[in-house]
Amino acid sequence: CGIVGVTGRENATEILLKGLKKLEYRGYDSAGIYVNDQKGNGYLVKEKGRIEDLQAAVGPAVKGTTGIGHTRWATHGAPSQANAHPQVSADGRFYLVHNGMISNFRQLKQEYLADVDFVSETDTEVIVQLIARFVGEGMSSKEAFVHVLHLIDDSSSYAFLLMDKDQPNTLYVAKKKSPLLIGVGADFNVVCSDAMVMLSETHDFIELTDGDVVTVTPSKVEIEDAEGQSVTRHQFHVDDDATASDKGAYDFFMLKEIDEQPGVIRGLEQTYIAQDGQIEVDDKLMSAMNQADRLYIVAAGTSYNAGLVGKNIFEKLAAVPTEVHIASEFGYNMPLLSEKPFFIFLTQSGETADSREVLAKVNQLGYESLTITNVPNSTLSREATYTMLLNAGPEIAVASTKAYTAQIAAETILAKGLGMLKVTPAAAEFDTAFELTKAANAIQTLVDQKDIVEDLAATHLSTTRNAFYIGRGIDYQTAIEASLKLKEVSYVQTEGFASGELKHGTISLIEENTPVIAIITDQKTAELTRSNEQEVISRGASVINIVSENLAEEDDQIVLPAVHQLLTPLAAIIPAQLLAYYTSKERGYDVDKPRNLAKSVTVE
Ligand code: G6P
Repeated sequence: CGIVGVTGRENATEILLKGLKKLEYRGYDSAGIYVNDQKGNGYLVKEKGRIEDLQAAVGPAVKGTTGIGHTRWATHGAPSQANAHPQVSADGRFYLVHNGMISNFRQLKQEYLADVDFVSETDTEVIVQLIARFVGEGMSSKEAFVHVLHLIDDSSSYAFLLMDKDQPNTLYVAKKKSPLLIGVGADFNVVCSDAMVMLSETHDFIELTDGDVVTVTPSKVEIEDAEGQSVTRHQFHVDDDATASDKGAYDFFMLKEIDEQPGVIRGLEQTYIAQDGQIEVDDKLMSAMNQADRLYIVAAGTSYNAGLVGKNIFEKLAAVPTEVHIASEFGYNMPLLSEKPFFIFLTQSGETADSREVLAKVNQLGYESLTITNVPNSTLSREATYTMLLNAGPEIAVASTKAYTAQIAAETILAKGLGMLKVTPAAAEFDTAFELTKAANAIQTLVDQKDIVEDLAATHLSTTRNAFYIGRGIDYQTAIEASLKLKEVSYVQTEGFASGELKHGTISLIEENTPVIAIITDQKTAELTRSNEQEVISRGASVINIVSENLAEEDDQIVLPAVHQLLTPLAAIIPAQLLAYYTSKERGYDVDKPRNLAKSVTVE
């Protein structure tokens, strides 16, 4: 979910709506705003659906100087108008927006609010009703707010923005685990989940610490820490986002972003590789990585899949053992760590709560870390020891494409740098700029042949219920990401499978015409995967082959131009991204905003 607030501006409504539009990447199933003016008028508008739906519901009368807004990715309670935020106390006095999750909300409800009729199923409503309850018992708004924060249990997370109708200039703010920034203006202030969304209003932001409670008015930002002591927090400046995005002639951002991939890889080469082939990454980072006896890559979703590919690259080029972990698993079931671990967080947005939670733990343990991200100043970038930027430009489509290939290219650059420090023969032989350029050229060739893939999507995937991607070794890693792409945008249930493992149970799912897409780029297993294909063909499957040039046979549908063996995922994923795109489009879905998803999931 994303939250935004403003105080001290004539056009609060407009600022909130504009901010929410930019926060849509955090969820888009429902949204709402509350604004009030200085004459005692307050307006609450909530809608199920996108920000456009909210915009349409906001009438010209909805004007004010102070307000809060929220765009939701549902946790407790289905997407609906009632469950949308702001949540309101029964007396209509308190309005609350919330990003995060209150684990003990049922218990709080039972203990304190058994007599209250609730209008929503959200954990947030419990908090706002509780605040009103304690104010009813004689506390001030702020006392009640702080009191309720103390009743929330440790495993919960929140970024709260509270308004009291009786104090029409004031925003009460609290944060634990979920990111929240205060934007500082002249005679006004804003609050937001992400600095980017408020750059049209201010460039100066204050970063809050977990446990902080803040009182924001047009002229003041008063911060208290968890102990109630008055504190000042680090203020930072954020420059304009020069890469603001526009779909141009494209129907959907996803296709635009697929097409941008060759340029993104060349951009990374220019940023991180010198003319003489030397890797130009922060020396301190390289030396921290060099001191590690094991790398731990932690990530979620597509970024995790980029980590799977990265493991192979780090182990081959730098000869350093590398583990890849799903962030939400690693956070609560940490494996036995090596003596000198180094952590790499892969995260396009830099905001994923699951990954952020692991980083907080890694920081507590005192280990150094690197965040590889596309978003400067993002939470994980601010909190890790080092940051490596992908500079891929904003990725707007929910299904990640260019961030995946950029992450693999970034891992390659780091692995080469590390391999040179470790003097591995594989690194010495690997010409990074040459190989990445070759991969970028291969991607260009593949995106130029879209029509082949569009036809295959129409013939093989337009009506199917399920599908499989298969491969071995590095092709299996690509198959996992390929299957995620297809299922998330086209809703075709798809599995990425190790081709040799399919016969051990899962082959029972193969029926007449079940599409099986094989990725074949590795000579040593090519024939084995082809024989696994024969096993499914004999059981009715309809097969599509994505094959490297040197291994291609006459009937193979998609041929990948030659690239270095370590980098074949960069080429092989392209037709898979396109297959996902065209299948979704063919089925008539909103390719950029698939149902149930958010670009960045900010709850654990
Ligand atoms: C969400 C998105 C995925 C993304 C994942 C991790 O689930 O829908 O596309 O891969 O988060 O995001 P991150 O920004 O950390 O890479």
